[in-house]
Amino acid sequence: TNNGRLADKPVILQMAELARFPYRSIGDRFEVIRYWQIDEPNAMLARDGAKVRGMIAAGSQRIDDVILDKLPNLEVIANIGVGYDRLDIEAVARRGIIATNTPDVLTEEVADLTVGLLIATVRRMPQAERHIREGRWAKSPFPNSPSLRGRSVGIVGLGRIGKAVARRLQGFEVSEICYCGRTRQADVPYRHFKDIREMAAHISVLILTLPGGPETKGLVDADVLAKLGSDGIIVNVARGAVIEKDALIAALRDGAILAAGLDVFWNEPEVPQELLALDNVVLLPHVGSASQKTRAEMIELLQDNLFAWFEGRGPLTPVAE
Ligand code: DGY
Repeated sequence: TNNGRLADKPVILQMAELARFPYRSIGDRFEVIRYWQIDEPNAMLARDGAKVRGMIAAGSQRIDDVILDKLPNLEVIANIGVGYDRLDIEAVARRGIIATNTPDVLTEEVADLTVGLLIATVRRMPQAERHIREGRWAKSPFPNSPSLRGRSVGIVGLGRIGKAVARRLQGFEVSEICYCGRTRQADVPYRHFKDIREMAAHISVLILTLPGGPETKGLVDADVLAKLGSDGIIVNVARGAVIEKDALIAALRDGAILAAGLDVFWNEPEVPQELLALDNVVLLPHVGSASQKTRAEMIELLQDNLFAWFEGRGPLTPVAE
């Protein structure tokens, strides 16, 4: 019935909840169908799926054949965020669909939060804050914390964000900055390890800034945690699944490592009860890139990708293969 009107504006299916993002002019240029309850009966998709030419998605939304089958004319998937670990890249490529993400605009913001979370975790700042709020300061001083200075730090995922973290850490008196990966990067002054296990034995701070997805799932297991040692600190701003959940909980509980700072979880927004019960873990609700300025820049880049695509200029920031 409204085909005539829709023909003027490309139809965009919005799979990601963008309420947290400053939501701008996208509605002027596109016909936006807001529908992100993929598990609910999708009469709407059966009715309108064939009209959809673009999609707005988040890394947290699984996009695979189940939904793509209902969208035969989909051309472009614009992801909010740099990570796209729940996007079935093979299914997308097979159908000739272009996927975009929002790299670069969030790099420095995530790096700031990573270093902040590291210091908060080592110096036990949230615990100290709770000490005040619970009225305990007058009764007993807050116990002394460990230090960051003098530690060897290892970064897993020395990409844009990992490098921005390393750059910041050069301003702290850590004893060494290391990274691991199959290949040594020629242009960085940090110590290279081929293998995470080898690196874990050498460091006491492990920072995770690598992509999620099947290739990195469970990379940090009980063995890696044990190698970090009882002084070990782990900070994860990547994806929850990069760490084996039960191994981490056991390591924190048994003192196999000292503490963890986590901005990401295995099944967000669920936070394991076992972690909530522990005092040596600092928990953040996936806010790495969540400043007003950076979120505005992310939505801007997402929109610009859609505009560019439908104006025939190609995607601005397609995801890497
Ligand atoms: C990202 O950029 O991948 C974040 O996790 C989502 O904002």
